[in-house]
Amino acid sequence: MNKIKKCLFPAAGYGTRFLPATKAIPKEMLPVLTKPLLQYGVEEAIEAGMDTMAIVTGRGKRSIEDHFDISYELEHQIKGTAKESYLTEIRSVINACTFSYTRQVEMKGLGHAILTGETLIGTEPFAVVLADDLCDNEDDGVLKQMTELYEKYKCCIIAVEEIPPEDSNKYGVIAGDTIKDSSYTKGSLIRVNDMVEKPEPKDAPSNLAIIGRYILTPDIFDVLRETKPGKGGEIQITDALLEMAKIGKVIAYKFDGKRFDCGSVDGFVEATNYFYTKEKS
Ligand code: UTP
Repeated sequence: MNKIKKCLFPAAGYGTRFLPATKAIPKEMLPVLTKPLLQYGVEEAIEAGMDTMAIVTGRGKRSIEDHFDISYELEHQIKGTAKESYLTEIRSVINACTFSYTRQVEMKGLGHAILTGETLIGTEPFAVVLADDLCDNEDDGVLKQMTELYEKYKCCIIAVEEIPPEDSNKYGVIAGDTIKDSSYTKGSLIRVNDMVEKPEPKDAPSNLAIIGRYILTPDIFDVLRETKPGKGGEIQITDALLEMAKIGKVIAYKFDGKRFDCGSVDGFVEATNYFYTKEKS
C-alpha cells in the first residue's frame, strides 16, 4: 500500500528564456530529438509505477492536451504505412495512464502551481516532475529511485545535485546531515535542515541544488496555503519545504543519473547532443 500513483507536472510557466519559440508553443512541448520534454517526464513517471498524470497548464498550453490524446485524422492517414511506427511510443504512453488537467490562472510561482494541482492530487503522496529538467539513467530512472526511498522513509524526498558555486542563484540550495543507510548504495541521503531559494554564492548553505524531481506528502498543501510570496515575489516550494524540513520531514537525495537543464538554451543543446549520440550508438 501507499505506493505513489500520481505525478504532478507544473507546466504553466511562461518559458521566457526560450522566447520567441515559447510565444505560442509551451516550453514543455519543445522536442529533444522528436519527443517533447513533457513526454520524457511522463515516461519516467510510468517507469516509476505511476498511472495518473496531473498537469497544471495555463493559457496557450492546449497543445499539451492534444499531444496526450488520439489524433484520428493523423491515425487514419498513416494507418498501414511504415510511418505508423512513429506513433508507437506515444500510443503506449496514452494507454498506460490517465491524464487530467487544471489551469493556473495567475503564474504566481512553482509553489502556487503545485497548490493549484491539489484538486487533481487529493490526499495522497505524489511525485512532482518539472519537465524542463530532463533526467536520464542507464539503470533505474530518477523518479523510480525516489519512490523506492519514499517507501522506506515516508517523508518528502527532493532530488539534489552538486553545482558549481557560482550557479547557486539559479536554484534552491539545501544543507543538512548525511544519513548513514548501509542498505542504500545507489545515491546518498541527507536529512535537510536548511534551504534557501536562489542564494548568492556567498550565502549558499552548500553546493547541493534542488532539481525538478520531488516526492511530496499531501500535508505540503496546508503549508503552501500559508506560504507568503518569497524570492521574486513568487510562492516558492522551497519556502514550504523548509517548514517541513524544520520538523525533520525532508530528505534530499543525490541521485544516480544525468540531468539536463532544458529550461536554458545551453542545457537544451547539451541534452539534444546527448540523446542524439545515445540513439546513434
Ligand atoms: P521555471 O521558472 O523554470 O519556468 O519554473 P518558467 O517561468 O516557465 O521559465 P522562464 O524562467 O520564464 O524561462 C519551473 C517549472 O515550474 C512551472 C514551469 O512551467 C516550469 O515547469 N511553473 C512556474 C508553473 O507551472 N507556474 C508558475 O507560476 C511558475
